[in-house]
Amino acid sequence: MEYICELKNISKRFHTINNETKAVEDLSFKVKKGEIVSIVGPSGSGKSTVLALIAGLEKPSEGEIIVNTNSIGFMFQKDQLYEWRNIYKNCILGLEVKKMDTEENKRKVLNMLEKYGLINFKNHFPSQLSGGMRQRAALVRTLAIEPDLLLLDEPFSALDYQTRLSIGDEVGRILRSEKISTILVTHDIPEAVSISDRVIVFTERPAKVKKEYIIEFDECPGERTPMQCRNTLAFGEYFRNIWRDLDVEEE
Ligand SMILES: Nc1ncnc2c1ncn2[C@@H]1O[C@H](COP(=O)(O)OP(=O)(O)OP(=O)(O)O)[C@@H](O)[C@H]1O
Ligand SMILES: [Mg+2]
Repeated sequence: MEYICELKNISKRFHTINNETKAVEDLSFKVKKGEIVSIVGPSGSGKSTVLALIAGLEKPSEGEIIVNTNSIGFMFQKDQLYEWRNIYKNCILGLEVKKMDTEENKRKVLNMLEKYGLINFKNHFPSQLSGGMRQRAALVRTLAIEPDLLLLDEPFSALDYQTRLSIGDEVGRILRSEKISTILVTHDIPEAVSISDRVIVFTERPAKVKKEYIIEFDECPGERTPMQCRNTLAFGEYFRNIWRDLDVEEE
Protein backbone atom coordinates (compact mmCIF):
# COMPACT_ATOMS: atom_id res chain seq x y z
CA MET A 1 0.00 0.00 0.00
CA GLU A 2 1.34 3.40 -0.93
CA TYR A 3 0.88 6.20 1.53
CA ILE A 4 1.06 9.89 0.71
CA CYS A 5 1.60 10.78 4.33
CA GLU A 6 2.26 9.03 7.65
CA LEU A 7 2.21 10.46 11.16
CA LYS A 8 3.94 8.31 13.75
CA ASN A 9 3.44 9.06 17.45
CA ILE A 10 3.35 12.83 16.95
CA SER A 11 3.31 15.22 19.87
CA LYS A 12 3.34 19.00 19.65
CA ARG A 13 3.81 21.44 22.52
CA PHE A 14 3.66 25.20 22.14
CA HIS A 15 5.68 27.24 24.61
CA THR A 16 4.92 30.74 25.70
CA ILE A 17 6.83 32.71 28.33
CA ASN A 18 5.06 31.18 31.31
CA ASN A 19 3.18 28.16 30.12
CA GLU A 20 3.06 25.23 27.79
CA THR A 21 0.14 24.07 25.61
CA LYS A 22 0.04 20.48 24.54
CA ALA A 23 -1.83 20.61 21.21
CA VAL A 24 -1.17 17.05 20.00
CA GLU A 25 -0.20 13.91 21.92
CA ASP A 26 0.91 10.58 20.53
CA LEU A 27 -1.08 10.95 17.34
CA SER A 28 -0.69 8.40 14.56
CA PHE A 29 -2.51 8.00 11.26
CA LYS A 30 -1.75 7.36 7.61
CA VAL A 31 -3.32 8.60 4.40
CA LYS A 32 -3.25 6.47 1.26
CA LYS A 33 -2.53 7.90 -2.16
CA GLY A 34 -5.77 9.19 -3.66
CA GLU A 35 -7.65 8.91 -0.37
CA ILE A 36 -9.89 11.69 0.94
CA VAL A 37 -9.75 11.87 4.73
CA SER A 38 -11.68 14.28 6.93
CA ILE A 39 -10.72 15.26 10.45
CA VAL A 40 -13.47 16.40 12.79
CA GLY A 41 -13.02 17.36 16.43
CA PRO A 42 -13.90 19.93 19.07
CA SER A 43 -12.75 23.53 18.64
CA GLY A 44 -9.18 24.01 19.83
CA SER A 45 -8.45 20.28 19.73
CA GLY A 46 -5.38 20.69 17.53
CA LYS A 47 -6.73 20.11 14.01
CA SER A 48 -5.10 23.15 12.36
CA THR A 49 -1.89 22.31 14.19
CA VAL A 50 -1.89 18.84 12.62
CA LEU A 51 -2.22 20.32 9.12
CA ALA A 52 0.58 22.81 9.85
CA LEU A 53 2.78 19.89 10.96
CA ILE A 54 2.06 17.92 7.77
CA ALA A 55 2.74 21.02 5.65
CA GLY A 56 6.07 21.47 7.46
CA LEU A 57 5.07 24.91 8.79
CA GLU A 58 5.55 23.59 12.32
CA LYS A 59 7.95 20.96 13.63
CA PRO A 60 6.69 18.14 15.86
CA SER A 61 8.03 18.04 19.44
CA GLU A 62 8.15 14.24 19.20
CA GLY A 63 7.48 11.63 16.57
CA GLU A 64 7.96 11.39 12.86
CA ILE A 65 6.04 12.68 9.84
CA ILE A 66 6.69 11.18 6.42
CA VAL A 67 5.25 13.05 3.44
CA ASN A 68 5.85 11.35 0.10
CA THR A 69 5.60 14.42 -2.14
CA ASN A 70 6.94 17.98 -2.46
CA SER A 71 3.73 19.18 -4.00
CA ILE A 72 1.37 20.17 -1.19
CA GLY A 73 -1.56 22.53 -1.65
CA PHE A 74 -2.77 24.27 1.50
CA MET A 75 -5.97 26.21 2.00
CA PHE A 76 -6.27 27.95 5.32
CA GLN A 77 -9.26 28.82 7.50
CA LYS A 78 -8.95 32.38 6.15
CA ASP A 79 -8.60 32.76 2.41
CA GLN A 80 -5.23 34.60 2.47
CA LEU A 81 -5.78 36.41 -0.81
CA TYR A 82 -3.48 39.36 -1.38
CA GLU A 83 -5.48 42.58 -1.47
CA TRP A 84 -3.09 44.35 -3.86
CA ARG A 85 -3.31 41.62 -6.52
CA ASN A 86 -6.38 41.16 -8.66
CA ILE A 87 -8.20 37.80 -8.66
CA TYR A 88 -6.38 36.41 -11.70
CA LYS A 89 -3.00 37.48 -10.29
CA ASN A 90 -3.88 35.90 -6.96
CA CYS A 91 -4.80 32.66 -8.70
CA ILE A 92 -1.53 32.37 -10.62
CA LEU A 93 0.59 33.24 -7.57
CA GLY A 94 1.34 29.60 -6.69
CA LEU A 95 2.30 28.91 -10.30
CA GLU A 96 4.66 31.90 -10.29
CA VAL A 97 6.29 30.87 -7.04
CA LYS A 98 6.87 27.36 -8.38
CA LYS A 99 8.00 28.68 -11.78
CA MET A 100 5.15 26.77 -13.38
CA ASP A 101 3.45 29.82 -14.93
CA THR A 102 3.40 28.47 -18.48
CA GLU A 103 0.79 29.59 -21.00
CA GLU A 104 -0.92 26.21 -20.68
CA ASN A 105 -1.17 26.40 -16.89
CA LYS A 106 -2.40 29.98 -17.03
CA ARG A 107 -5.08 28.89 -19.49
CA LYS A 108 -6.12 26.18 -16.99
CA VAL A 109 -6.51 28.88 -14.33
CA LEU A 110 -8.75 30.89 -16.64
CA ASN A 111 -10.81 27.74 -17.30
CA MET A 112 -11.23 27.17 -13.58
CA LEU A 113 -12.23 30.81 -13.04
CA GLU A 114 -14.85 30.31 -15.73
CA LYS A 115 -16.09 27.09 -14.12
CA TYR A 116 -16.32 28.66 -10.65
CA GLY A 117 -18.23 31.70 -11.93
CA LEU A 118 -15.37 34.13 -11.40
CA ILE A 119 -14.27 34.92 -14.92
CA ASN A 120 -16.01 38.30 -14.99
CA PHE A 121 -14.22 39.21 -11.77
CA LYS A 122 -10.70 38.25 -12.80
CA ASN A 123 -9.59 41.90 -12.85
CA HIS A 124 -11.36 42.76 -9.59
CA PHE A 125 -9.54 42.98 -6.29
CA PRO A 126 -10.40 40.64 -3.38
CA SER A 127 -12.11 43.40 -1.37
CA GLN A 128 -14.65 43.77 -4.21
CA LEU A 129 -15.78 40.11 -3.90
CA SER A 130 -18.18 38.33 -1.56
CA GLY A 131 -16.89 35.81 0.99
CA GLY A 132 -17.97 32.89 -1.18
CA MET A 133 -16.27 34.29 -4.27
CA ARG A 134 -13.04 34.90 -2.36
CA GLN A 135 -13.10 31.33 -1.11
CA ARG A 136 -13.59 30.00 -4.64
CA ALA A 137 -10.67 32.14 -5.84
CA ALA A 138 -8.49 30.74 -3.06
CA LEU A 139 -9.46 27.24 -4.14
CA VAL A 140 -8.54 27.96 -7.77
CA ARG A 141 -5.14 29.19 -6.59
CA THR A 142 -4.61 26.03 -4.53
CA LEU A 143 -5.69 23.64 -7.30
CA ALA A 144 -3.68 25.52 -9.98
CA ILE A 145 -0.40 23.92 -8.89
CA GLU A 146 -2.06 20.48 -9.21
CA PRO A 147 -0.93 19.34 -5.76
CA ASP A 148 -0.40 15.65 -4.93
CA LEU A 149 -1.61 16.30 -1.41
CA LEU A 150 -4.27 18.85 -0.58
CA LEU A 151 -4.67 20.18 2.96
CA LEU A 152 -7.96 21.99 3.50
CA ASP A 153 -8.61 23.75 6.80
CA GLU A 154 -12.35 24.49 7.03
CA PRO A 155 -12.28 25.86 3.49
CA PHE A 156 -16.03 26.44 3.34
CA SER A 157 -16.70 27.77 6.84
CA ALA A 158 -17.07 31.41 5.75
CA LEU A 159 -19.77 30.57 3.20
CA ASP A 160 -23.52 30.83 3.63
CA TYR A 161 -25.33 27.50 3.89
CA GLN A 162 -26.50 27.24 0.29
CA THR A 163 -23.14 28.20 -1.25
CA ARG A 164 -21.34 25.96 1.18
CA LEU A 165 -23.41 22.99 0.13
CA SER A 166 -22.95 23.52 -3.59
CA ILE A 167 -19.23 24.44 -3.45
CA GLY A 168 -18.55 21.62 -0.96
CA ASP A 169 -20.25 19.09 -3.22
CA GLU A 170 -18.53 20.47 -6.31
CA VAL A 171 -15.09 20.34 -4.70
CA GLY A 172 -15.80 16.86 -3.34
CA ARG A 173 -16.67 15.69 -6.82
CA ILE A 174 -13.48 17.20 -8.31
CA LEU A 175 -11.24 15.66 -5.63
CA ARG A 176 -12.77 12.24 -6.20
CA SER A 177 -12.68 12.33 -9.99
CA GLU A 178 -9.09 13.67 -10.08
CA LYS A 179 -8.06 11.28 -7.27
CA ILE A 180 -6.35 14.04 -5.29
CA SER A 181 -5.14 12.87 -1.87
CA THR A 182 -6.83 15.21 0.58
CA ILE A 183 -6.99 15.91 4.29
CA LEU A 184 -10.01 18.07 5.07
CA VAL A 185 -10.54 19.62 8.49
CA THR A 186 -14.17 20.53 9.04
CA HIS A 187 -16.79 21.14 11.73
CA ASP A 188 -19.50 20.04 9.36
CA ILE A 189 -20.29 16.33 9.82
CA PRO A 190 -22.45 16.00 6.66
CA GLU A 191 -19.68 17.63 4.65
CA ALA A 192 -17.09 15.20 6.07
CA VAL A 193 -19.26 12.12 5.46
CA SER A 194 -20.39 13.05 1.96
CA ILE A 195 -16.92 13.95 0.65
CA SER A 196 -14.62 11.46 2.39
CA ASP A 197 -13.38 7.89 2.18
CA ARG A 198 -12.60 8.02 5.89
CA VAL A 199 -13.47 10.28 8.81
CA ILE A 200 -11.11 10.61 11.77
CA VAL A 201 -12.66 11.96 14.97
CA PHE A 202 -10.24 13.75 17.30
CA THR A 203 -10.51 13.90 21.07
CA GLU A 204 -10.39 17.20 22.89
CA ARG A 205 -6.95 18.80 23.13
CA PRO A 206 -4.36 17.31 23.06
CA ALA A 207 -5.45 15.72 19.80
CA LYS A 208 -5.53 11.95 19.57
CA VAL A 209 -7.57 9.68 17.32
CA LYS A 210 -10.82 8.95 19.15
CA LYS A 211 -12.67 7.07 16.40
CA GLU A 212 -12.25 6.30 12.77
CA TYR A 213 -14.96 5.56 10.21
CA ILE A 214 -14.44 4.02 6.78
CA ILE A 215 -17.14 5.69 4.71
CA GLU A 216 -18.78 3.39 2.19
CA PHE A 217 -22.09 3.69 0.41
CA ASP A 218 -23.39 0.43 -1.05
CA GLU A 219 -26.22 2.44 -2.58
CA CYS A 220 -23.79 4.54 -4.67
CA PRO A 221 -21.62 2.17 -6.68
CA GLY A 222 -18.91 3.57 -8.96
CA GLU A 223 -18.19 7.29 -8.89
CA ARG A 224 -20.25 8.50 -5.99
CA THR A 225 -21.12 12.18 -5.72
CA PRO A 226 -21.60 13.96 -2.39
CA MET A 227 -25.23 14.65 -3.29
CA GLN A 228 -25.97 10.95 -3.93
CA CYS A 229 -24.36 10.05 -0.60
CA ARG A 230 -26.51 12.52 1.30
CA ASN A 231 -29.61 10.67 0.11
CA THR A 232 -28.66 7.25 1.47
CA LEU A 233 -29.67 5.51 4.68
CA ALA A 234 -26.02 4.89 5.59
CA PHE A 235 -25.41 8.65 5.57
CA GLY A 236 -27.75 9.19 8.52
CA GLU A 237 -26.14 6.35 10.42
CA TYR A 238 -22.62 7.81 10.00
CA PHE A 239 -23.93 11.25 10.95
CA ARG A 240 -25.52 10.00 14.19
CA ASN A 241 -22.43 8.05 15.23
CA ILE A 242 -20.01 10.93 14.66
CA TRP A 243 -22.42 13.39 16.28
CA ARG A 244 -22.50 11.17 19.37
CA ASP A 245 -18.69 10.95 19.48
CA LEU A 246 -18.37 14.74 19.39
CA ASP A 247 -21.29 15.41 21.72
CA VAL A 248 -19.83 13.30 24.51
CA GLU A 249 -16.61 15.30 24.17
CA GLU A 250 -18.38 18.58 24.67
CA GLU A 251 -20.47 17.67 27.71
N1 LIG B 1 1.51 29.09 17.32
C1 LIG B 1 0.93 28.75 18.47
N2 LIG B 1 1.45 29.16 19.66
C2 LIG B 1 0.87 28.80 20.83
N3 LIG B 1 -0.22 28.03 20.94
C3 LIG B 1 -0.80 27.61 19.80
C4 LIG B 1 -0.26 27.95 18.50
N4 LIG B 1 -1.04 27.35 17.55
C5 LIG B 1 -2.01 26.71 18.21
N5 LIG B 1 -1.87 26.84 19.56
C6 LIG B 1 -2.73 26.22 20.59
O1 LIG B 1 -2.88 24.84 20.28
C7 LIG B 1 -4.21 24.41 20.54
C8 LIG B 1 -4.80 23.79 19.29
O2 LIG B 1 -5.02 24.81 18.31
P1 LIG B 1 -5.54 24.53 16.84
O3 LIG B 1 -5.59 25.83 16.15
O4 LIG B 1 -4.72 23.45 16.24
O5 LIG B 1 -7.02 23.97 17.12
P2 LIG B 1 -8.20 23.61 16.10
O6 LIG B 1 -8.64 22.23 16.40
O7 LIG B 1 -7.77 23.92 14.71
O8 LIG B 1 -9.34 24.63 16.55
P3 LIG B 1 -10.54 25.29 15.68
O9 LIG B 1 -11.53 24.18 15.45
O10 LIG B 1 -11.11 26.33 16.59
O11 LIG B 1 -9.96 25.84 14.41
C9 LIG B 1 -4.97 25.63 21.04
O12 LIG B 1 -5.01 25.57 22.44
C10 LIG B 1 -4.14 26.81 20.57
O13 LIG B 1 -4.25 27.89 21.42
MG1 LIG C 1 -8.43 25.27 13.28
